[in-house]
Amino acid sequence: MPSLRDAARGRILFGGDYNPEQWPEEVWEDDARLMKEAGVNSVTLGVFSWAKIEPRPGAREFGWLDRLMDLMHAHGIGVVLATPTASPPPWMGARHPETLPRSEDGSIVWYGSRQQFCASSPVYRRYAAALTEDLAARYADHPALTVWHINNEYCTHCWCDGTAAHFRRWLRGRYDTLDALNEAWGTAFWSQRYDAWTEILPPRTAQYMKNPAQVLDFRRFTSDALLECYTAERDIVARHTPQIPVTTNFMPLWSGQDAWAWSAQEDVVSVDIYPDPRDPLGGQYNAMIADMTRSQAAGPWMLMEQAAGPVNWRGVNHPKPEGLNRLWSLQAVARGADAVCYFQWRQSRQGSEKFHSGMLTHAGEQGRTFREIKRLGAELALLGPAVSGSGVAAEVAVLHDWDSWWAGEQEGRPSSLVDYTEIVRSWHRALWEGGFATEFARPEADLSQFKVVAVPHLYLLTDAAIDNLVAYVRGGGRLVCGFFSGVADVDDRIRPGGMDARLRALFGIRTLHEWWPLDAGAAVECDGFRGGLWSEELEAEPDTEVVAAYRDGELAGLPAVLRRGRAWYVSTLPGPEALRALLDGVAREAGAEPVLAGLPPGVEAVRRGELLFLLNHGRGTVAVNVPGDLADLLTGRAVRGTVELGRHGVAVLRSAAP
Ligand code: GAL
Repeated sequence: MPSLRDAARGRILFGGDYNPEQWPEEVWEDDARLMKEAGVNSVTLGVFSWAKIEPRPGAREFGWLDRLMDLMHAHGIGVVLATPTASPPPWMGARHPETLPRSEDGSIVWYGSRQQFCASSPVYRRYAAALTEDLAARYADHPALTVWHINNEYCTHCWCDGTAAHFRRWLRGRYDTLDALNEAWGTAFWSQRYDAWTEILPPRTAQYMKNPAQVLDFRRFTSDALLECYTAERDIVARHTPQIPVTTNFMPLWSGQDAWAWSAQEDVVSVDIYPDPRDPLGGQYNAMIADMTRSQAAGPWMLMEQAAGPVNWRGVNHPKPEGLNRLWSLQAVARGADAVCYFQWRQSRQGSEKFHSGMLTHAGEQGRTFREIKRLGAELALLGPAVSGSGVAAEVAVLHDWDSWWAGEQEGRPSSLVDYTEIVRSWHRALWEGGFATEFARPEADLSQFKVVAVPHLYLLTDAAIDNLVAYVRGGGRLVCGFFSGVADVDDRIRPGGMDARLRALFGIRTLHEWWPLDAGAAVECDGFRGGLWSEELEAEPDTEVVAAYRDGELAGLPAVLRRGRAWYVSTLPGPEALRALLDGVAREAGAEPVLAGLPPGVEAVRRGELLFLLNHGRGTVAVNVPGDLADLLTGRAVRGTVELGRHGVAVLRSAAP
């Protein structure tokens, strides 16, 4: 199977989306010159060029792309070639309106922007396949081709009649009989029983709350329908070039695609990361997405897009202060990225993204952004041979699952304030601030390599997942589980007792009487900390250790955090310090160690292969104590005892011993 290693060849890929169709050809030579100057070795071509390649149905205009592929090759720059199927040209929607998605209320999502296609439309799929076929045939032997990039950020949703028919086929595959479907969807409730397959619809706008099991299946279906579009194009390009790896870029922690299922279908896992430069925890957000992507890739991954400066889609779009782009880029490398790329090479002068930064901004080659890009390019060239292809070891796993997310975030639940991604982020933050290297895993995965497994919040757990967790603890692992977990089964049916009996036995919970969600901003006092968002009225088994009890409110005196042997249950969301202390304690008991002890606040340490990365996310200069005789790969200087890091400073250390 081809991999990122084949494309990177001992380097870190550096570059970005290149949209030369927006520019006159005389600019292209200048682009190539400046790319060389910046150390760019990879560009992504073609992402939004469908209308340029196929200006009218069946036409093919490849000449311009031929010239670009040759130009890039002449400059030693590899091409990540995209199938341009994310944005069909207007002629598609005008001639084939059935390719346009429909919203939940039946209204049409028109062309004039991008990504206006229905994943279930046979017409869209036919045109996409034909174009992919010709693109792959034409460039299969081109020496510049390094990676195939299928589509872009698959994210469309559609509720049209064609989707309805496709949904029914998918449901037949899952349930076989209508009786099984009625049972799984609990259609005895509110007189929703289906008498014929043709009656079943995607969950469209309705009078009141929709059937949650139907919504859950529709989310599963939508992810699968988009995945079919991906695999159809992937199979075409792979037939032409079995040696070239294939990817499609994910949005980070995006609910529309089950990235566990998707990444299994990719040779290279890639992601687009856009933290807010003003977010004081932006570094933690990056670390979380990097850990997640590396886990999905089971190894090195590709940072396909990030912004060199401001984006244009927040309310207020802040630039990156000097050094921040470098810090976050090197952080991605530390956490396993073998590619550091951007949206986009040259900032657009027209269109919706003309205020979105590029590597080369409106300020041009004299601009600060480009100057910083050049520095980063040179440093990545230095780092490549030392780091490319190597791994990041972790002793702690965080469990994450799309089914649970989809089932948990619906109408009609105890608290609409519970935000799945925020809870995952809180738990990852606690581990990140504690200095532990973490991986993400799905609940059914083999967990035996981890000393600690953290479950921030998994509302839905399958029987297999529950058995897996129980076996993990029996096998010697330590499990820490957050509130409102193990509540529903695979069909979003509440487990008897409100939490699966195997889990209650594992944690030593005799009875779960009630869930007591908290109001926005409210807190509940517990022994030694304050909890937020949620609390639970639990009755423990006599041999269960109550680690902390609730101190005020209706639940005063009842267990808040409890433990039975190697299994902990946390029935609220402790504040950041408390969650950190709790996870720290469990990790230490398990023999898991932070990457480097005694770090000043805001400094992150990551080991990748032989290298120790130190990254300063804090505001000021800090001195970090380091063990042994080391050398900083970036400066070539010897480091003994301490290393000083300025604001946004980074050191990449390796043993000075020969
Ligand atoms: C990504 C997308 C790019 C560009 C970028 C802007 O979601 O793939 O094409 O729009 O956002 O931040």
